[in-house]
Amino acid sequence: MLGLCRRTEKLEGAVQISGSKNAALPILSACLLTDEKCVIRNVPDLEDVRVMFALLRKMGKTIKFEKNIAQVSGRLRSGVLPEKLVRKLRASVLVMGPVLSRLGEGSFALPGGCALGERPIDIHLGGLKAMGASYSILRGRMIFMRQALRGAHIKFSFPSVGATENLLMASSCAGGVTVIENASVEPEIGDLCLFLRAMGVGITRKGSSYTVKGRACLGGADFTVMPDRIEAGTFLLAAASVGGRVRVDSARPAHLGALLTKLRATGVKISKKGNSLTVNSPKIIKPVNIVTGHYPAFPTDLQPLWAVYMLRASGRSSIKDKIFPARFMYVDELKRLGASMVLKNAVLMINKSRLSGTNIYACDLRAAAAMIIAGLMAEGETRVYELRHLFRGYENFFIKLRKLGANVSMEKVKK
Ligand code: UD1
Repeated sequence: MLGLCRRTEKLEGAVQISGSKNAALPILSACLLTDEKCVIRNVPDLEDVRVMFALLRKMGKTIKFEKNIAQVSGRLRSGVLPEKLVRKLRASVLVMGPVLSRLGEGSFALPGGCALGERPIDIHLGGLKAMGASYSILRGRMIFMRQALRGAHIKFSFPSVGATENLLMASSCAGGVTVIENASVEPEIGDLCLFLRAMGVGITRKGSSYTVKGRACLGGADFTVMPDRIEAGTFLLAAASVGGRVRVDSARPAHLGALLTKLRATGVKISKKGNSLTVNSPKIIKPVNIVTGHYPAFPTDLQPLWAVYMLRASGRSSIKDKIFPARFMYVDELKRLGASMVLKNAVLMINKSRLSGTNIYACDLRAAAAMIIAGLMAEGETRVYELRHLFRGYENFFIKLRKLGANVSMEKVKK
């Protein structure tokens, strides 16, 4: 599929934010920690979620999914993570923690490369080893020999979101107490902790340290996934970039602090009422630099969208990504639209640019959304190819954008 975008003068109306992809994935994976039924609500209907379902089914689970409610039941029977699914979903490494916690053994395909740059899993593996796990690598797989995990004191060299989630789940059914220091504190991890607590795990957090009291047997739970802060940020930035007035509903404004501060600094007016944010974009906006970092700093996932927004600012701005320093694969595609951008020493410099439509190719999920918004700002027609990246992580993106008045549609790519 490709996205066909035409210049749009303004976006207007209200948009409803879906459940968080990055919270739903670890929470679904945590269902492997029990054989009892779990009901997970507000699960976004996305490609990544469907791959996670396929993975859980391979491991013995039965899943019913209707109206954004996933009912997960059945016994964990297998600890084998197939390569095909790992290639489709990097977050599939999140099943390692629960599987080893329950079974003590497993065989997991190694994750390969990724469009965001090198993505090792050494921090996940270091934590699992500290808990007693031992593995050998054979034909592209990590084979974990049968060994019950036990509580440990773990200090991460760097706060990794996935490793924090994996180790929280690994310690949930392990014997004893586990302390994880220098861990990540993203809101999606907070949601996972709430779910684990609802299953019966004792978890506390103090700053960036978690203490987990494992329990051999966990119960099922009924849980509602938090709203997607990255989707909310995407629509706030879409409105700011294209222009107009948009209300973003079912957001959690408290999760968007860094973005809101930066948006206001550019001159955008944002008002807050309960869980809704209304953004009003002025004619002229100021350039503002960003540096991405761990929560609560500016999120790396919104960095490509900020880059597109800054193309209409009245001067030069810059972006430095401290989480994924090589996350600039989208720059050459935006240059094809006329974007004046220079990447030097891993810092992206962005100048005010007049965009004109052409064919461009999405390279990852957030870059796909950024390119569609750039297509709405460009003169004429922009075709964004490789939309499969977008479907991985945005629910009804085109329907939501069209409801706001965006001149955008999907087409089949002619062979
Ligand atoms: C998660 C999010 C992703 C987001 C990222 C950073 C999900 C499904 N994905 O990804 O959308 O962009 O957090 O907020 O929630 N690292 C290592 N060794 C490790 C693990 C990570 O060196 O063992 C490095 C990575 O290469 C990267 C950085 O740490 O440079 C951050 O990665 P991490 O926080 O683990 O991100 P993910 O959990 O993969």
